[in-house]
Amino acid sequence: MGTRIAILASGEGTNAKALLDASANGALGGGEVVVVVSDRREAAVLDRGDQAGVETVFVDPEPFSTRAGYGDELVRVLQGHNISLVCLAGFMRILPPNFIKAFPDQIINIHPSLLPAFPGAHPVRDAIEWGVRVTGATVHFADEKVDAGPIILQQAVQVLPDDDEEALHARVKEVEHHLYVDAVWLFCSQKLHIDGRIVRVDDSEAPPSKLKEPR
Ligand code: GRF
Repeated sequence: MGTRIAILASGEGTNAKALLDASANGALGGGEVVVVVSDRREAAVLDRGDQAGVETVFVDPEPFSTRAGYGDELVRVLQGHNISLVCLAGFMRILPPNFIKAFPDQIINIHPSLLPAFPGAHPVRDAIEWGVRVTGATVHFADEKVDAGPIILQQAVQVLPDDDEEALHARVKEVEHHLYVDAVWLFCSQKLHIDGRIVRVDDSEAPPSKLKEPR
């Protein structure tokens, strides 16, 4: 059986769409997106899931007074779908330890900077304000620290002199969309091996960031 994937997202969902398209095209190494979960009822990502014919679930944070309580509810929903890979795609909540422990080495996140530079909620703005010439995108395993888990793939993006946050983030997202698909393909193809902080990539077939053809 292929890897059953859940996407957790709060917003626009362009990364979710890249994963949904790849799933529909059989380009996730046998992985399949089976549910899209959001903490925001109005999030556009839920429409993306609907359009793809994938189940969508709004998990309301409102009734939960603690992060752990909400985390338990998310675990319950995902376990109900037999999920073995959780893809965070702009999920704007810190996941509690009980959630991380429920899916050991099975949660991956995408972040619009070259981590460990610019973790946190405004990495694109922070990169511009710091004056860096190069930023980029990172896909990494999620652990209990925010934006800090072992790195799977990264790709650089030039910062141009006239960039504002919107323009730069749009170019970073273009990179993110194929980087995330590559990373999920590698995970589902069982080509990722975590060794402490280091993720070893079995790239005997093709360099991961050069994967162009659906597989
Ligand atoms: C992306 O830049 C992602 O790296 C970050 O949040 C943004 C989500 O964008 N975690 P979208 O909703 O996928 O368009």
